[in-house]
Amino acid sequence: MAYESLEVMITAEQIKEKIRELAEEISIDYKEKNPLLIGVLKGAVVFLSDLIREIDMPLEVDFMAVSSYGADTASSGIVRIQKDLDQSIKGKDVLIVEDIVDTGLTLSYLFQNLNSRQPNSINVVALLDKPDRRKVKFEADYCGFKIPDRFVIGYGLDFNENYRNLKDICILNT
Ligand code: IMP
Repeated sequence: MAYESLEVMITAEQIKEKIRELAEEISIDYKEKNPLLIGVLKGAVVFLSDLIREIDMPLEVDFMAVSSYGADTASSGIVRIQKDLDQSIKGKDVLIVEDIVDTGLTLSYLFQNLNSRQPNSINVVALLDKPDRRKVKFEADYCGFKIPDRFVIGYGLDFNENYRNLKDICILNT
């Protein structure tokens, strides 16, 4: 089955280059810290797997899965943890790895939840940011690309669980 109506927004090459830059910054900031990178399933999986291979120092990886509560979650901001971490993060230097900051509701919830577990530090790296869609104030500490208010797919991001395998980040024209 061929893909139709896809418009490339960010090419695989541009993503690769940006990840190198982000990894360099992170490597400097976390020097000798052995950070724990927490990938938010499922969208951040591709980003996380490329990012960690560009970071040349000891680090740990864990995953969380979250979902919104019911149809109205976008406005309620209530997030349900579907898969929690395998370990305590007390005293650890945590870096949350997310695919995109949209309304900001997921990350502001996740940030508060993880922050209450007494890590030594906690930061967020997001590959994409749609600032125009924000409902709560939230800024990632490390951000790849700021993009306009368009629904994007590929490089881990899905539409109805499809398109995660695309190498580029694309706009789905329906
Ligand atoms: P937020 O809570 O509204 O910031 O959005 C969090 C989640 O919504 C992201 O982690 C994505 O999984 C999903 N999301 C937001 N915008 C897009 C998009 O343009 N394409 C695919 N998924 C998106």
